[in-house]
Amino acid sequence: MAAMWFITTLSLLLLSAGVCNGGVTSKYVRLSERSVDIPVGYFSPPPGFNAPEQVHITQGDHVGRSVIVSWVTPLERHPNVVTYWEAEGNHKHKHAAHAIITDYRYFNYTSGYIHHATIKRLKYDTKYFYELGEHNVTRRFSFTTPPKVGPDVPYTFGVMGDLGQTYASFSTLEHYMSNPKGQAVLFVGDLSYADDHPYHDNVKWDTWGRFVEKSVAYQPWIWCAGNHELDFAPEIDENIPFKPYLHRYHVPYRASQSTSPLWYSIKRASAYIIVLSSYSAYGKYTPQYNWLQNEFPKVDRTETPWLIVLLHSPWYNSNNYHYMEGESMRVMFEPWFVQNKVDIVFAGHVHAYERSERISNVQYNITDGLSAPVKDPSAPIYITIGDGGNIEGIADLFTEPQPSYSAYREASFGHSIFEIKNRSHAYYTWHRNHENEAIAADSLWLYNRYWYPYEERISGTMD
Ligand SMILES: *[C@@H]1O[C@H](CO)[C@@H](O)[C@H](O)[C@H]1NC(C)=O
Ligand SMILES: *[C@@H]1O[C@H](CO)[C@@H](O)[C@H](O)[C@H]1NC(C)=O
Ligand SMILES: *[C@@H]1O[C@H](CO)[C@@H](O)[C@H](O)[C@H]1NC(C)=O
Ligand SMILES: *[C@@H]1O[C@H](CO)[C@@H](O)[C@H](O)[C@H]1NC(C)=O
Ligand SMILES: [Fe+2]
Repeated sequence: MAAMWFITTLSLLLLSAGVCNGGVTSKYVRLSERSVDIPVGYFSPPPGFNAPEQVHITQGDHVGRSVIVSWVTPLERHPNVVTYWEAEGNHKHKHAAHAIITDYRYFNYTSGYIHHATIKRLKYDTKYFYELGEHNVTRRFSFTTPPKVGPDVPYTFGVMGDLGQTYASFSTLEHYMSNPKGQAVLFVGDLSYADDHPYHDNVKWDTWGRFVEKSVAYQPWIWCAGNHELDFAPEIDENIPFKPYLHRYHVPYRASQSTSPLWYSIKRASAYIIVLSSYSAYGKYTPQYNWLQNEFPKVDRTETPWLIVLLHSPWYNSNNYHYMEGESMRVMFEPWFVQNKVDIVFAGHVHAYERSERISNVQYNITDGLSAPVKDPSAPIYITIGDGGNIEGIADLFTEPQPSYSAYREASFGHSIFEIKNRSHAYYTWHRNHENEAIAADSLWLYNRYWYPYEERISGTMD
């Protein structure tokens, strides 16, 4: 039955896909999900006096042996301790890590007490329980540390962006969580969309924290900042960019010698992940530029074969929305991406899905007129995955005709799965929300640029 449905859906897709210059613009008609926010009341805080809420974790060091646990207590600063222990074996060996506590005001909003505790020196590939709160108001969660970094360590990342907190966002998150393979999330920016509400109503940051807790309390989300994290509003005297985001989401940026949480790197299993900020200076001599220049030589592909970059504003995008907004960053950094054979770049910002060919546009200089992207086996594949389903709705106006650099594009909400098998092969899939998780609307065997730099076969081949 399932197989029949699968084949029927596939053939419908093939029939409906418009092919142009080798690229595909899917004509899939999505059922409409309301891009309106789920009411604040739906995301009520957990029961109990001062109960810890908005629990989230992320990697806490450069190699995956630490975890940053973050949570909010609404009424009192304490308790600020996370208790943790190995899931298997002797539960008597409980450990405690203490949190630093921060809070902030934004216009007339006052945050709860925001806690960040770094649990260090964990064992690799081990399940831990952790507990927050005290007395009769405790909450228990768990996570599994990644395997030790190494070239052939399989690992599966989910990829989401521009999530927000609408009925469509809900569908995206549920859909991702129904995939048992995802071990960590690469999040390409634009979290709560609080800034789309009057006075950037920061209650929306709290409700978003409650909304995503069911995933991010149990597996790390690797954060990247988008424009909706800026919360820059001089008209209400809020002049510090990224204020709510930086208070709420801590990342291990010092572990990669970064001077800002907005750009940093981590290693996880067989992947080296570089996170960049589209909304911080990246011109020559700036901190981010200098950091990235020093960062690429540190990547050892014999240790971490897969080189992945996260950034918010896409460099290759054939949608009318946000068209060419990533261009100035592309001009600055693309030669490094090609020289260093980045495997894949995940971006968000555009509320649709798109996958590029392996192309580069680095031969251009202002006198030679060579301004078109060309096929380049050393170039990354660029994925735009800003299709989490936020309050701003879908970006359904693609430029026509479809440019040759665009391999597949579709105006639907969804998420991706990036499944590393070994140093040479990874299986990549994109899942639109309206179908069973087993179905991938776009899928591709990716070949590692360092170990196996062959041309990938035509997309659409099923596993
Ligand atoms: C916790 O205990 C207090 C006092 O004993 C009680 O009032 C409260 O309802 C309890 N809370 C929960 C969540 O059980
Ligand atoms: C903040 O100010 C706005 C506009 O005056 C008002 O609607 C809102 O209720 C205020 N919120 C708080 C928490 O005071
Ligand atoms: C621009 O490209 C042309 C053709 O490759 C080359 O001859 C020229 O030296 C380049 N100019 C600069 C400033 O690099
Ligand atoms: C790597 O994984 C791919 C896909 O599962 C497989 O075909 C290939 O043989 C593997 N390579 C090695 C060296 O095991
Ligand atoms: Fe954005």
